Amino acid sequence: MKPALFYLIFFGILSGLLGCKKDHVENVPPGQDWTYDPTPFEIKAPASFPILNIPVGNPTTVEGVKLGRMLYYDPVLHSDSLRACASCHSQERSFTSDPPVLPHVNLAWNTSFLWNGKVEGALEDIMLFEVKEFFKTDLEKLQNHQDYPKLFYEAFGARTITHELCAKALSQFQRTLISGKSKYDRVLEGTNWVFLTDEELNGFDIFFTEKGDCFHCHGGILFTDNSFHNNALDASPEPARSAITSNPADVGKFKSPTLRNIELTGPYMHDGRYETLEEVVDFYSEGLKTSETVDPLMKSLHLGGKHLTTQEKSDLIAFLKSLTDTAFIADTALASPFH
Ligand code: HEC
Ligand code: HEC
Repeated sequence: MKPALFYLIFFGILSGLLGCKKDHVENVPPGQDWTYDPTPFEIKAPASFPILNIPVGNPTTVEGVKLGRMLYYDPVLHSDSLRACASCHSQERSFTSDPPVLPHVNLAWNTSFLWNGKVEGALEDIMLFEVKEFFKTDLEKLQNHQDYPKLFYEAFGARTITHELCAKALSQFQRTLISGKSKYDRVLEGTNWVFLTDEELNGFDIFFTEKGDCFHCHGGILFTDNSFHNNALDASPEPARSAITSNPADVGKFKSPTLRNIELTGPYMHDGRYETLEEVVDFYSEGLKTSETVDPLMKSLHLGGKHLTTQEKSDLIAFLKSLTDTAFIADTALASPFH
C-alpha cells in the first residue's frame, strides 16, 4: 500500500471513530460519564483526643467532605434559599454567631445535640434533623441544579438526591471541624518554646481543681462532658431538658458547651445573658442561684459561688483564652468554597 493511501485510510477511520465518539457523548443523558470512585479522607485529630467513631455506613471521603462543605455554605439547601448553615455558624466565631447558636467544634465526639439534647445519636442524626426539619431542604432544587447531581454521584454513587445523603455529606464535613491547635494544645504536645504564663498556669489550677471546679462539667480534652446540668443560673429555671424527657429532675438542665474557643463565642449561656467572660466568671464566683435541680457538682452553691479573688478571676480567664485556636478559624479548608 502506498503511504499516501495508507494515511488517507488511517485518518479516515480515525476521524470516523472520533466523530462516532463525539456523537455518542452528545446523545447520552447527562451523568453517563460520571464516575464513582471515592478517595478515603483521613481525619487528623490530635493524639490527645479520644478515639473517633465513624459510622460504617458513612465513611469519610474526599468527595463527601467537598460536597458537605458546599452544602454547608450554600443557601440552596434552605427551602427559601435565604440562608446557609454558615449564615449562623460562622467560622471567624468558631462556627457560632449570636446566642443561642451552638458552636461547631469537635462535634464528631458528641452524642447529644442542641441545648436541651433534643436529638441524640451520631452526627448523621442531627444533620438529618437540620436538613429535613429545620431547613426543609427542597430536593427538586438540588436534583435540577447544574452541579449537585454529579457531586452527589461522585460522593455516594447515587443518582437520586435524598435528605439522608445531604445529612451524610454534611456529617463528613462536620467531622473535619476539629479544633486542637490552641496554645494549650501546643503546650500539651510539648512544642518548643510554648509555655503557659504564670497567670494561665494559675488559671489552669483553678479550673482543674476544687478551687474553681470547672472541670467537672467542662473537663477532659474536649472541655465538655457532653452531658446536661443545671449550673445554678436561675432561682426559677426554664424547663430546658425536661421539655424533652418530661422528667422534673431535668428542669434547668442544659448541655455543657465546650469551652474551646470560648473567647470567640460570646455572648454566653443559652440565652446570651452574659456579654463577657468576666461576667461569666463573676457569676460562678458569687452569682449562683439555688433551685431544686441545681447540680450537686456546683459545690459552692450554699456560699453563692466560689468567691475567687480579682487575681484568681483574671487568671482563670487567661487560662480560658489559652483555648483559642486561631489556626482553626483561619483554616481555608473549612472556609466557604464559593469565593
Ligand atoms: C438561623 C440560624 C441558624 C442556621 C441558619 C443554622 N443553625 Fe444550627 N443552630 C442554631 C441555633 C440557634 C442552635 C442551638 C439551638 C438549640 O439548641 O435549640 C443551633 C445548633 C446546631 C447544632 C447543635 C450543636 C450542638 O452542640 O449540639 C448543629 C449540629 C447545627 N446547629 C447544625 C446546623 C446545620 C447543619 C445547619 C444548616 C443545615 C444549621 N445548623 C443552620 C442556629 C442556626
Ligand atoms: C455543674 C456543671 C458545671 C460546672 C461545675 C461549671 N459549668 Fe460552666 N456551664 C455549664 C452548663 C450546663 C452551661 C450552659 C448553661 C446555659 O447556657 O444555660 C455552662 C456554661 C458556661 C459558659 C458559657 C458557654 C457558652 O458557650 O455560652 C462558660 C464560659 C462556662 N460555663 C465556664 C465555666 C467555668 C469557668 C466554670 C468553673 C468556674 C464552670 N463553667 C463550671 C455547666 C457547668
